[in-house]
Amino acid sequence: MEPNEALDLIKQRLSPNRYRHSLGVADTAVILARRYAEDESWAYLAGVLHDYARNLPPDQLLSIAGQHGLIKQQVELEVPDLLHGPVAALLLQNDMAATIPKAVLEAIACHTLGSVQMSELDKILFLADMIEPGRCYPGVGELRKEAFLDLDRAMLLALESSIRYCLDTGKILHPLSVQVRNAFLKQVHGVG
Ligand SMILES: [Fe+2]
Ligand SMILES: [Fe+2]
Repeated sequence: MEPNEALDLIKQRLSPNRYRHSLGVADTAVILARRYAEDESWAYLAGVLHDYARNLPPDQLLSIAGQHGLIKQQVELEVPDLLHGPVAALLLQNDMAATIPKAVLEAIACHTLGSVQMSELDKILFLADMIEPGRCYPGVGELRKEAFLDLDRAMLLALESSIRYCLDTGKILHPLSVQVRNAFLKQVHGVG
């Protein structure tokens, strides 16, 4: 898929704010890809398309995910937005399989919760989503710095800050967030 095609597709689906966010993620993903010698065109495509299913209402996310076996945990029934990554990858694959690389679809599928086995592109998209220029929250500056120093350390920082945010605000925690955090803890510090 050509970059312009992806941009048109996303512009039609998302609000102006979310479209701007997608552009910020794409640009950030490209800079990270350059830093870590990953494919810049894949990073851009993943950034533009990652929130392809972000505009879908909860009942639609649930019904698409339910029909295709994408619901893995009870918490996803309670917070259907958590499914927008896997559902986006599925819809993009069904609609445009021939033109989107599998690695891009995989990065999109795990951009919200991460996964215990992440490729460099998966990490780049996950982090770009959290540090794009429009993001503003306590700790984002440190995460921006770390993302350009070491992807695994940045992932650990990002996951711990997301988990801490859920604890501080009384939000429900997905069990996978803990598993992924533990996997990166082991990767970075060799413990666990
Ligand atoms: Fe997202
Ligand atoms: Fe996003």
